This record gives sequence, C-alpha cells and structure tokens, in this order.
Amino acid sequence: MKVIAINGSPKKEGNTYHAIQLVAEELKNENIEVEIIHVGNQVIRGCLACNACMKNKDGKCIIDNDPVNEVIQKMKEADGILLGSPVHYAAVSGTMKSFLDRAFYAGSGLFRHKVGAAVVAVRRSGGVPTFNQLNNFINYAEMAMPSSNYWNVIHGGAPGEVLQDEEGKQIMRVLGKNMAWLMKTIENGKQAIPAPEREPKTYMSFIRK
Ligand SMILES: Cc1cc2nc3c(=O)[nH]c(=O)nc-3n(C[C@H](O)[C@H](O)[C@H](O)COP(=O)(O)O)c2cc1C
Repeated sequence: MKVIAINGSPKKEGNTYHAIQLVAEELKNENIEVEIIHVGNQVIRGCLACNACMKNKDGKCIIDNDPVNEVIQKMKEADGILLGSPVHYAAVSGTMKSFLDRAFYAGSGLFRHKVGAAVVAVRRSGGVPTFNQLNNFINYAEMAMPSSNYWNVIHGGAPGEVLQDEEGKQIMRVLGKNMAWLMKTIENGKQAIPAPEREPKTYMSFIRK
C-alpha cells in the first residue's frame, strides 16, 4: 500500500515536512510506502472556474503546464493521501490552496474511499482553522479520515523547531498509527463489505421560486 503526502510549504524541509515525516515513519513501520511530493515551491495558479474538468470528466485540469495533473494521477493510484500545510495568515499556504482547489475539483471522484488525513505546522495561532480547511477537501471527496488524540497541529517557527513540540510529535505519531490501521482495515474488508455505490451529486443553490 502507498500514501502520497503533499507538502504545501514553500520550504522543502521546513516544519510541514517534519510533520509529514513523523506520520510517515509510523506508516513505514506498518510497511506502507510513502512518497512526499513538494508542491509548495511550485508555480501553481488558482482554479479558472471554467468547469472544463466537469464537462470533460477525465480527472484532469485544463491547465496542463504545471504539476497538478501529474500529482492527481499519483493520488489516484495511492491508497492514502496525506495533506500538509504551514499556516499562512490563519489559513493554508497560497500555493497549497491553488493546488487543492484544482486537484480536488478535477479529481474528486478519483479519491473516493481512499484514506485521507491532514497535518498543519504553525508558529503560534491559526492551526485549527487551517486544519479544518484541509479537512474540507478530504470530506468533500468522500474519503475515510483517521483521527489522532488532538487536532493534527504541530508548533514551531524556524525549520525543525516543531521537533521540540513533544505533544505535537505524539499527535503525528498517533495519527500515523491510526492511518495505517484504517488503511489496512479498509483493504482487508473490501471483499467482505463492498463500498456503497456513488450517488450522482444533487446541486441546489437555495433559490426558491
Ligand atoms: C506568509 C506567512 C504567514 C504566516 N502566518 C502565520 C499565522 O497566521 N500564524 C502563525 O502562528 N504563524 C504564521 N506563520 C509562521 C508559519 O506558520 C510557521 O513558521 C510554520 O512552522 C512554517 O512551516 P514550514 O516551515 O513548513 O513552512 C506564517 C509564515 C509565513 C511565511
């Protein structure tokens, strides 16, 4: 089994990377492969809201000159997806937001029933709203979400400082163990308990005549 971990920090080996690594170590202990993809340092523009992906239904974004489509493919092939972001102004980093909007809009149906979790690195404040923001993508895609023993936020400013946050490190470890367990449980139960069929989406704009 394999997990694709998305690092949404502009820094390659900053605190988000360390948060992901702490989860990854537990996954690897359970023989789950982890590939970290660094998107936070890429040039990724925001969604055009052109709805071409909805019309084409090919799991691709019409913007094809950046890493988004390639990463959607890798996420499609994985059993689990781990989203990591630093907190920028009490929210996910700008590049991560552009990536997630496009990857989940174009690829949403492809991630259904995979296991998905999020981790956040923050110096002081804004961790939980950012965690919630990441979880919104996972929930909308009908993914299965493992939890930890607190919200998945680790604290530190300078790169590597999160490794002094003992409680944060425990949160990441527990998340990694729970994620591995959920992945294996779903994998082993697939044959015995088939997944529910996907319902076509009902859209309402709350306009009454
Ligand atoms: C543009 C920007 C905005 C930030 N906003 C916040 C914030 O709202 N709250 C906070 O506590 N830290 C904030 N920080 C600090 C980072 O969240 C913190 O240093 C984090 O550990 C960085 O993770 P990284 O090393 O993976 O990039 C901000 C940093 C940057 C560069």
